[in-house]
Amino acid sequence: MKAIELQAFGLDGLRMVDACEPDPPPGHVTLRLHAAALNFRDLEILEGRYGMPVRLPCMPLSDAVGTVTRIGPGVTEWREGDRVNPLFFPDWIDGPFHPCYFARQLGGNHPGVLRQAMTAPANAIVRAPRHLGDEAATLSVAALTAWAALTDAALQPGQTIVAIGSGGVALFALQFARMFGVRAIAVTSSAHKIPQLLAAGATTAVDSRAHPDWGMEVMRLTEGVGAHLVLETGGSATFSESVRALAPGATMAMIGYVSGPLLEMDLRQVFIAKRARLHGHTVGNARQFDAMNRALEAHGIVPLVDSVHPFIDAAAAYRRLASGTSVGKVLVKLD
Ligand SMILES: NC(=O)c1ccc[n+]([C@@H]2O[C@H](COP(=O)([O-])OP(=O)(O)OC[C@H]3O[C@@H](n4cnc5c(N)ncnc54)[C@H](OP(=O)(O)O)[C@@H]3O)[C@@H](O)[C@H]2O)c1
Repeated sequence: MKAIELQAFGLDGLRMVDACEPDPPPGHVTLRLHAAALNFRDLEILEGRYGMPVRLPCMPLSDAVGTVTRIGPGVTEWREGDRVNPLFFPDWIDGPFHPCYFARQLGGNHPGVLRQAMTAPANAIVRAPRHLGDEAATLSVAALTAWAALTDAALQPGQTIVAIGSGGVALFALQFARMFGVRAIAVTSSAHKIPQLLAAGATTAVDSRAHPDWGMEVMRLTEGVGAHLVLETGGSATFSESVRALAPGATMAMIGYVSGPLLEMDLRQVFIAKRARLHGHTVGNARQFDAMNRALEAHGIVPLVDSVHPFIDAAAAYRRLASGTSVGKVLVKLD
C-alpha cells in the first residue's frame, strides 16, 4: 500500500512511500481507508508548530473513513465490509479524559491515516453513519469536539450558542444546534461566508469586523440574556468578547486558539460576576463518537465538504485549508 509521510516540516516534506499491508494481531482489525480529512491541527503539525511533540517522520492526519477488510483473532464485534471511523485518541474508549491518552494521538505522535490501509484495535473504531460516503471522513475531530461541547453543556431547547469562525468545529456546532433546537449565533471575520453559515444552521450571523465588540451584539440579539454556550476557538483575538457574550452561569467551551494562545484580559471583566464556567475540551471518546454518529444518521445530517483532493496531491489539501477561504471540510481521497 501507499502512505504519505511527513519527513521534514513544510509542504515539501510530504513524501509518498511504500508501506506493508498491515496484518491484524489479536484484538485488531485491518481497514482499507477511503478518505481522510484535515483539521487546523494538521497545518500546525505540517509547519512544526503544534503544541505537542511530533517526531519525524510522522504519518499525518487523524480523520478518516474506511472499511474493515480483515479481522484479527478474538474480534467478534466487527465483520468484513463494516464501514468505520478510527478514534483520534485510540485509548480513550469511555469515561472521563485522562492525560495518559495524550500518549497516542493519530497523526501526531501515533501513525495517522494518510495511507491506504491501517490496523486498529477493535475498540478504537466506531461504526460510520450509514447514510454517508466519503463525507464520513470528516467526523473524528471537529465534529466530535462540537458534539462534546454541545452535549456536555446540557443545553435546553431555545437556549443560545455562539460558534466562532467558519471552520470545521463551528460548522458542525451550527448543524448540531439546529438538530438540538437551540439558537445559534455565528461570529465570523469573513462576512462573505455568512450565507453558508446561515445555511449550515446559524439563526443569525455577526460580522466581527463590522462589530469588533461582537459580545455586545450577542447580548443585543438575545435581548440581554447572552449565550448559554460559547465555543471558543479563536483564542487571544476573541476570548474577551466571548466572555462578554456569556449569559450568567453559562459555559465557555475552551477548544482552540486560531489567532494565538496567549491572553491578556481584565479580570475585573464580567467573567466572575457572570459566574461563568470554563470547560476545556479534548475531542471525545468512542462512546461519544458512536452516539454522535447514530444522531447524524437519525437526522440525516451531511457534513459540509469544501473540496476533495487526490492522494497523489495531498499537498493541495493542505494549501486549500491554509488559504483560509475554505468553507467545509477539506478531504483527501485515498482509494
Ligand atoms: N480542543 C480540541 O479538542 C479541538 C478539537 C478540534 C479543533 N480544535 C482547535 O479549534 C480551532 C478551530 O479548529 P477548526 O478545525 O474548526 O479550524 P479551521 O477549520 O481551520 O477554521 C478556523 C476558522 O477560524 C477563523 N479564524 C482564522 N483565523 C482567525 C483569527 N486570526 N482570528 C479569529 N478567527 C480566525 C476563520 O473563520 P472566519 O473566516 O469565519 O472568521 C477560520 O475558518 C483550532 O485552534 C483547532 O486546533 C481543538
